Amino acid sequence: MVSRRIPLFYLFFLFYFIFNSCNYSNKNEKANYQDIAPIVHQKCAVCHRPEQAGPFSLLTYSDIKQHANKIRFVIENNIMPPWPADTSYSRFANELVLTKEEKEKIISWIKNHCPAGDTTKINTTEWSKKINYRKPDLVIYFQKPVYINGNGSDHFFVVKMPYQLDKDTFVQYVEFVPHQKKIIHHVNGHLLRYDEKRKFNYYQGSTYAEEPIENYIQTYKTMGLTYLDTKNQSPKNLLPLLIPNTIYYLPGFLPLFYKNNIGGFFLPKKGVFFINDIHYGPTHRACYDSSYLNVYFAPNRPERYVYEGQMGTNGMSKIQPPLVISPNTIQTFTTTLLIPADISILAVNPHMHLLGQSFITFAITPFKDTIPLVKIPRWNFNWQYYYIYKKPVVIPRNSLIVAIGTYNNTSKNLYNPNYPPIEVKEGDGFHSMKTTDEMFQFFFQYMIYKQGDDTLHCSIP
Ligand code: HEC
Repeated sequence: MVSRRIPLFYLFFLFYFIFNSCNYSNKNEKANYQDIAPIVHQKCAVCHRPEQAGPFSLLTYSDIKQHANKIRFVIENNIMPPWPADTSYSRFANELVLTKEEKEKIISWIKNHCPAGDTTKINTTEWSKKINYRKPDLVIYFQKPVYINGNGSDHFFVVKMPYQLDKDTFVQYVEFVPHQKKIIHHVNGHLLRYDEKRKFNYYQGSTYAEEPIENYIQTYKTMGLTYLDTKNQSPKNLLPLLIPNTIYYLPGFLPLFYKNNIGGFFLPKKGVFFINDIHYGPTHRACYDSSYLNVYFAPNRPERYVYEGQMGTNGMSKIQPPLVISPNTIQTFTTTLLIPADISILAVNPHMHLLGQSFITFAITPFKDTIPLVKIPRWNFNWQYYYIYKKPVVIPRNSLIVAIGTYNNTSKNLYNPNYPPIEVKEGDGFHSMKTTDEMFQFFFQYMIYKQGDDTLHCSIP
């Protein structure tokens, strides 16, 4: 009997062992921190790290564990990472989307109470180096923080940011780093280039001012931005050379620069970056803003110049019908631009305000082919990227670029700033537009076409 019992006993152990070893190997397959860290670093930490838009860092194990329940919630509900563009319509280099497998991996890791595994295998510095594309070569701060009144209305300022270097250089990209992230709505700025043979002192005068509506020359004088050696009061004679749109920021904006000597500009050793429009949305708490610029130098003079096209509000093409959105309606507007030369589009940026519902743009070639550009099925004011293509999108001459925007001015639109809804129009065209006015714009960065552009890898990621 004994001899019988033993095999049974062994059998039991054998089963136990097989069962548990299966279990054990399953356990082994369960994701550890090591498995989910690369996903979180690539798809979340671009924003969730110091200086960026995210409200907390997601760089280390303890960062992620601490926010695990919230992370599960935003992933299960497709709130994060925010990527409003339809990836079945067009694809981008800076895409922030989780695959189904990535989602499942993170969620099951959190359900399993975030096993740490061997955290020594994760070198956080290595990762942050990878996503911190580069260290800036020059950082320029506001000379004085900008004071924002907490009176609940929009504020618009111009700010000067002088700099001084040892020698002339080239710039690849200027990054605006927002301090008051919650209220900075958009930023647009230029580089001012002064003629060294003339007299000026831009270190004198006020460092920022409410954005001038009428007498802007007077404002620039009080800021010390005009030449001092002339009686001729024409703006052309008083103002330095302007290199336009070197600074750009919108909510959700990600760094916009290209490789292969595409884009960039000459930077003299002395000069001023001039923010000609920083728009702070309404706040009821007064505060100071100390935003700054990270400047990334380029090794060489740019080989390919990058231009920016602008359609719709204040742009090169009219909106049809004019942008007047009646209360309690959902209305669609179109703007169309004829492209007279062969161009290569590098990146696109649709822009609307709070009533935006959807946005689609494409090109129609003279041969009636349609080239998709970008589609935003559900507009979200908070996420307005410059969508960067992996390779340029070549648009043949005589194509039409068409942008179609739909606005929802009913009370069903949760972002509608008016209850009950009222008629909403474009701003007066003079002053920067308020968040509660509407805009319909489509920006595109492009180069003049060169053979081989269709297969050129131009994006950094
Ligand atoms: C493009 C920038 C960006 C990316 C990418 C991004 N986030 Fe966010 N995230 C933000 C910003 C900004 C906020 C705060 C504003 C908001 O809630 O909309 C936020 C909010 C959150 C919140 C909610 C915080 C709260 O207390 O309500 C969580 C959780 C979160 N993110 C997790 C993630 C995870 C996980 C990923 C990656 C899968 C990710 N985020 C990717 C920018 C980003």
